Amino acid sequence: MTLSMGVSGGTAEETAGGAGLTFPQGFVWGTATASYQIEGAANEDGRGPSIWDTFSRTPGKVVGGHTGDVACDHYHRYADDVAMMADLGIQAYRFSIAWPRIQPDGSGPVNPRGLDFYERLVDELHGHGITPIVTLYHWDLPQALEDRGGWTSRETAERFAEYAAVVHGRLGDRIETWTTLNEPWCSSFLGYGAGVHAPGRTDPGAAFAAVHHLLLGHGLAVAELRAAGARQVGITLNLAPISGSDPEAVAHVDGLQNRIFLDPVLRGEYPADVVERARRFTDWSFVRDGDLDIIGAPIDILGVNYYSPTTVRLRACQPANPVHPGSEGIAFVQGDEEKTAMGWSVKPDGLTELLTRLARDYPGTPLIITENGAAFDDVLADGRVADERRIAFLDGHFRAAHAAIEAGADLRGYLVWSLMDNFEWAEGYAKRFGLVHVDYASQRRTPKDSALWYREVIRRNGLQA
Ligand code: NOJ
Repeated sequence: MTLSMGVSGGTAEETAGGAGLTFPQGFVWGTATASYQIEGAANEDGRGPSIWDTFSRTPGKVVGGHTGDVACDHYHRYADDVAMMADLGIQAYRFSIAWPRIQPDGSGPVNPRGLDFYERLVDELHGHGITPIVTLYHWDLPQALEDRGGWTSRETAERFAEYAAVVHGRLGDRIETWTTLNEPWCSSFLGYGAGVHAPGRTDPGAAFAAVHHLLLGHGLAVAELRAAGARQVGITLNLAPISGSDPEAVAHVDGLQNRIFLDPVLRGEYPADVVERARRFTDWSFVRDGDLDIIGAPIDILGVNYYSPTTVRLRACQPANPVHPGSEGIAFVQGDEEKTAMGWSVKPDGLTELLTRLARDYPGTPLIITENGAAFDDVLADGRVADERRIAFLDGHFRAAHAAIEAGADLRGYLVWSLMDNFEWAEGYAKRFGLVHVDYASQRRTPKDSALWYREVIRRNGLQA
């Protein structure tokens, strides 16, 4: 199965009488996870420490003092997990590779046992007819690289490209779709600016340096992957429509959330207004001649993670939101709409708006939703999780995606976050995003009602009315 064929010519159809929605032929349905959130086995088979090992062990950083040491124990249970996915009819599975399993020190010697694990996983997926989609970096930076400056250092970008080539060297013959980075906004602004994600630094200037070196790492890795013959290469961004009555406030937040990543990758330039607004934090001297050509090299697909839109308004004396440098005077407001257990507004229309905007402002790049989903306070009772709110959430967002396709967005697939409950970063294990419930004490997996409902969606490639 490829994400680049069989879809572009088709159109989404609404079945007669509004009885349901059918997605284009070849549309890919799947689920997503990430290494540190599910694997566990933190000290096995030569894996080195990552910044999330360090951060989660730092008192006060993660709710409940939780760590990814055991997580869903997927490292040992991957075969059962793949079989479970096959039972659920999952067509594609997006997972990430833990860099510290491949290069425990972030550079230099390669740990073959790390590559062996992913080879076993990929072969198991293929054996069940599930298409693997690889994310090369989902936040678990080798600690050794952080000790040398992490993403504030140009060296990390260079090491990342080497690591990408190593992974491709082993898996390149059986992976179609490669994602370089997952949500560089979180890595930079949450990790180096606000300090709420690893490595926990609180320096806005460092966050902008991290943005650039993450993007440079993406560009250098794309070049390596292309040279090695990779078929489909992209990046995953967490994007959100930004609304509000004050255009300057909207531009500020849209710039830092969306355009600071979209413009370099898809247009080969940083947005001028973002560069100007950030000058109080950085002189941008880390940007060297030629960097933007590397970053802006064409990609084959853009991964979109969508959870919620953002609404802003001006409010005198509002202190800056630490995750949005320079946002003094801008309040982030919510209405009385439904919220998930994360406190995020449920707004399916935001997805239509986002996808149609991408199609309009950045035409020519196919899109895939690499994450969408919701945490709710699920209850396992009598072997069942009746998560009707998650079903309603997904139903609404699938319809919103369909509307975007109808409006012309070239959307190729939809990967639900997440296959199973897992380590939700600074929130620990309390927030459950899974289609499958995980009992962490027994490691028992129980497909929630949403998983069974999703199997039907996949089977019919669409929704009932
Ligand atoms: C974004 C991240 O990629 C993923 O790791 C996280 O668990 C989900 N969104 C939910 O917050």
